[in-house]
Amino acid sequence: MTPEQIKLVQDSFKSVAPIADAAADIFYDRLFEVAPQLRPMFPQDMREQKKKLMQMIGTAVNSLHQVETIVGAVQDLGRRHVGYGVKNEHYDIVGGALLYTLGKGLGDAFTPDVEKAWAETYGLLASVMKDAAAKAA
Ligand code: HEM
Repeated sequence: MTPEQIKLVQDSFKSVAPIADAAADIFYDRLFEVAPQLRPMFPQDMREQKKKLMQMIGTAVNSLHQVETIVGAVQDLGRRHVGYGVKNEHYDIVGGALLYTLGKGLGDAFTPDVEKAWAETYGLLASVMKDAAAKAA
């Protein structure tokens, strides 16, 4: 990722952070609409899950300029996801729901450049998680 892309992601996340609860609602509503088969993998009560997801994205976004500091934590996260039943093919579905959510949350500020920068950010996290999961198997 370029420094410009990192700035686009960090600045746009600042606009989403104040509406984190609403964004998490949009995200999971969208995810379970496009992929209802994933719903049983998650707990009935999603409140904790929503908080954890936004926190993890926040941590990752704030660390993009020093990715090496979070790689170990993201690898651990990927290995834990094997235990949740998550498969490689689920990552694109979740990534799609994330980009959809950002589009809704940011409105006109979700320019093609912002979208591309977020797609790269998610792709980076997902590939580290999938690699770690594959090596653990
Ligand atoms: C970059 C991608 C992702 C991030 C940052 C992320 C983040 C998280 C975090 C922080 C947790 C809390 C538990 C923990 O830390 O182990 C979690 C749990 C979970 N995630 Fe993800 N996740 C990602 C991708 C996915 C994908 C692709 C799926 C597929 C459906 C998924 C399904 C789940 C499930 C089922 C749980 C456990 C729920 C529970 O039993 O409490 N995640 N995720």
